[in-house]
Amino acid sequence: MSPSARQGRRDPFGVVVVAAGSGRRLGAEVPKAFVTLAGGPLLEYAVRSALAAGPVAVVVAAPPSHVDEAIEVVEPLSREHGIPVQVVPGGVERGDSVLAGMRWLPAECEVVLVHDAARALAPPVLFRMVAAAVALDRPAVVPSLPVVDTIKRVDGNLVVATLDRESLRIVQTPQGFRRDVLLAAHATHGSLATDDAGLVERLGVPVRVVDGHPAAFKITTPEDLLRAERLVADAARD
Ligand code: CTP
Ligand code: MG
Repeated sequence: MSPSARQGRRDPFGVVVVAAGSGRRLGAEVPKAFVTLAGGPLLEYAVRSALAAGPVAVVVAAPPSHVDEAIEVVEPLSREHGIPVQVVPGGVERGDSVLAGMRWLPAECEVVLVHDAARALAPPVLFRMVAAAVALDRPAVVPSLPVVDTIKRVDGNLVVATLDRESLRIVQTPQGFRRDVLLAAHATHGSLATDDAGLVERLGVPVRVVDGHPAAFKITTPEDLLRAERLVADAARD
């Protein structure tokens, strides 16, 4: 089918939410996905956005120690949206968690979105845009934003190059893939990647960018959590 004939078609998609990290850099007493943001855990925000985009199913890779807590978070959301949400134990590396989640997704999900629970405020429209782009016969799609700061390459404390900002992008999640492509990428290049699209690139498969969203920033440090709290408070005032 030509891309134009497929325009508007919505292939069934599934979402893997990776939430099994410890959140070392955030430094909270609980794994990052269970840190509270304006009354709810980060995981709740991420799963709520994913569900609002209308997937066939969502699977959450949770810290093995927190599978029951994750089920408690997602069950009411699953009921509310009438969409199955499965919780599975994640792995030691992020890539292991992606694979653990993918294994569970129903076979009809030819399109798979992988999303960091840590990007808790990524809006549903971003999930929809990425899924729609993959459905247009694009094997891999990543949301991205321009780089606003000047970026330099250094060696120790010496600047060795100033990079061309015009050709640089910040990439976010949800990242979208044809299921077979993502499986092949993880099978070939192992689990040590922080970025699924990076694995796909190494297969020689083209990765396309679509516009990202400022709210899809990753909560990594306590400052990021404060930024997220401000955004939620502002949205509640509107
Ligand atoms: N993640 C995962 N399984 C792992 C490691 C990370 O599912 N073994 C997930 C995290 O839960 C997070 C996303 O991958 O949603 C991005 O990772 P990152 O922001 O690095 O989170 P953490 O690894 O938890 O944080 P840190 O690196 O500071 O420990
Ligand atoms: Mg990490």
